[in-house]
Amino acid sequence: VKIVVLFSGNGSNLENLIKHFHCKRFGDKETQIIPITNRPNAKGIERAKKYGINTTIIDHKEFESRESFDAELVKVIKSIEPSLVVAAGFMRILTPVFTEQIRAINLHPSLLPLFKGANAIEESFNSQMRVGGVTVHWITPELDGGEIVEQGCVKKIRGETLEEFRQRIHDLEYTILPASIKYILNL
Ligand code: GRF
Repeated sequence: VKIVVLFSGNGSNLENLIKHFHCKRFGDKETQIIPITNRPNAKGIERAKKYGINTTIIDHKEFESRESFDAELVKVIKSIEPSLVVAAGFMRILTPVFTEQIRAINLHPSLLPLFKGANAIEESFNSQMRVGGVTVHWITPELDGGEIVEQGCVKKIRGETLEEFRQRIHDLEYTILPASIKYILNL
C-alpha cells in the first residue's frame, strides 16, 4: 500500500507518518511512504533521508502556471499508483487539473470551516473560542473546503503562549492524521 505525502517545509508530519507507516505491516498489507515536495530545500527532505527515504522534488518555480505544475505532479503521482495522497504542510493551492484526477486528503490546523488559510493556528489562538483543533479533509479546488474526514480539538489553557498552543495543535496532528489514514485505507 503506497501512501504519497506532499509537503513544502519542516516535514514533522511527514516524519511522523514515516514512523507510523513506512515498511509497516497491517494484517496482510505492507505500507510504504513516498514523499514529494515542491521546495528543493525543504527540511523534510533531510528528515526522510534519516530513514533512507528519497524525496521527489518538483520545484514549482520551474513551471509557468499552477496548472502546468499540477499536471507534472499528477503525472508523477500516477506513475507511483498510490492508494492515497496526503498533503501535510503542502503550501500550494491545487487546481482542478489535480483535484479531478487525484484522490487526496489535507491536514489543516483548525476546526474547519473556521480559520481557513495559512494563519490558522494564530487566528484560532487569537479568537474568542475556548477550543482550537485539527481537521483532515478531502482536497477540492476550494481552499480548505472539502468534505471533512476527521477532527479533533484542543482545549485552550488560560495564560498559555501562542507557541505552547501551537505545539499542542501539532501533537494532536500526530495522532489525528495517522488515524484518518488507517480509517480511509482500512488498515
Ligand atoms: C501543519 O500544522 C499542518 O496542519 C499545516 O502545515 C503544518 C505542517 O507542519 N497544513 P510540518 O511541515 O508537518 O511540520
